[in-house]
Amino acid sequence: MRIDVGMQKGGVGKTTTSINLAGALANRGHDVLAVDADPQGGLTLKSGHRDQYREGEYALYDVLSEMGQLSLGNLDELIIHGDEFDIVPSHIRNFRLEKHLYSETRGVETLKLSLDRLTADYDYIVIDSPPNLGPLADGALLAAENVLFPSHANTIAKDSLEILFDEIDTLEDKFDDVNISTVAAVLNEVGRDGVSGEMAEWFNSTFGERFVFQVPDWVVVEHSIGYRTSIFAYDPDDAGYPWDAEKTGTLRDRYTAIANHVENLS
Ligand SMILES: Nc1ncnc2c1ncn2[C@@H]1O[C@H](COP(=O)(O)OP(=O)(O)OP(=O)(O)O)[C@@H](O)[C@H]1O
Ligand SMILES: [Mg+2]
Repeated sequence: MRIDVGMQKGGVGKTTTSINLAGALANRGHDVLAVDADPQGGLTLKSGHRDQYREGEYALYDVLSEMGQLSLGNLDELIIHGDEFDIVPSHIRNFRLEKHLYSETRGVETLKLSLDRLTADYDYIVIDSPPNLGPLADGALLAAENVLFPSHANTIAKDSLEILFDEIDTLEDKFDDVNISTVAAVLNEVGRDGVSGEMAEWFNSTFGERFVFQVPDWVVVEHSIGYRTSIFAYDPDDAGYPWDAEKTGTLRDRYTAIANHVENLS
């Protein structure tokens, strides 16, 4: 199963959610690949692959543009194996991809075609999307046909979601046989006072209560990302934050619930 963690709004927690969902699924024994489809490389940098991002020999650009030695069948060559899950890293060169994919008639379909040709076998592929609507974000939606969107639980979220779902409708109209399902809404960075009754009601009635999850706004989330792991491999003692232990447990439960839900859909 492929899941696009997508939302055209910046800073809502796409990368954090991608890392922790991938970690949760891996923790449950699955083979997981996380694809960094964002040219800004948040997932790649946060996973500690700065050299690959800046100076790696090959990039997704090379695979999807087929301008050099690599072609759509060579995505395997980009994979970096990790302790928790594997990743297809981003590369600074991927900024050129947006322009390139725009100009090609079937550009947005290349990520899907390339994933279809992976020889490595994964139970789940999680795609971290860029914070805009463009051919890379569209490509991730088409490749996964499943979207999980992180969102802040504020009133602007409704507008952002409307834009996302308009884009999904457009893609479904444009491409035959494409049907993009909503996997979950993850209300991220929920503050101490929780989600307002009105917003909770709106999310639950729009997507169905069992599709809506909440992740608190806790510095532990940042600590675990800074430790370069998901919350599942985060060791608060080793990181120097022993007091994070209890909240680490709570966060693992939250992301495990999302992973369980994903398993039930697949
Ligand atoms: N639940 C949380 N609690 C505390 N901090 C969080 C939480 N989720 C995300 N953050 C922090 O918020 C910032 C933005 O998160 P993240 O990078 O995951 O968002 P994004 O949607 O991927 O951003 P971009 O659109 O730039 O790619 C990061 O510094 C991250 O560590
Ligand atoms: Mg990001």
